[in-house]
Amino acid sequence: MKKQKIEINLEVFETLSELPEHIQELMNKAQQARENAYAPYSHFRVGAALRLSSGLIVTGNNQENAAFPSGLCAERVAVFNAGANFPNETITDLAITVRAESHEVAEAIAPCGACRQSLAEYEQKQKSPIAIYFKGETGAIIKVASVMDLLPLGFDAKYL
Ligand code: THU
Repeated sequence: MKKQKIEINLEVFETLSELPEHIQELMNKAQQARENAYAPYSHFRVGAALRLSSGLIVTGNNQENAAFPSGLCAERVAVFNAGANFPNETITDLAITVRAESHEVAEAIAPCGACRQSLAEYEQKQKSPIAIYFKGETGAIIKVASVMDLLPLGFDAKYL
């Protein structure tokens, strides 16, 4: 038996102003998208904004459904939006932010497992990393340089 350890790298920024202007802009777009979320069941709003290599910003927010599993997370709405409309463009950065209607979320919330898997697909397709920045309604921002930092030992097309 051999024990192995996987380490992930992340960076923590206390305020948005510590980040470059184009990332601040991206997080502000995610925040605007968040407010348009359709979240009548969870009352938990999530906004995502991703930047394409052309500089264009594509957004998404969570879309819920009375038949709960039929809804979709903000990150997948954004990445599928980009995949559907700009299939040949590279995604460079993704910003995510959340707001709960019942309490203040003061910690950075990372994307769920299914969204990590979907994001990993696009990172592999484009063969370049997508940097992810996530934050709560308030509090610090966490950055990972690649989806792979959030999905070690993931499943992908090479196993098919
Ligand atoms: N949600 C997201 O949009 N992204 C995530 O990564 C986790 C959860 C949404 C789904 C649902 O509409 C609400 O947040 C509560 O789970």
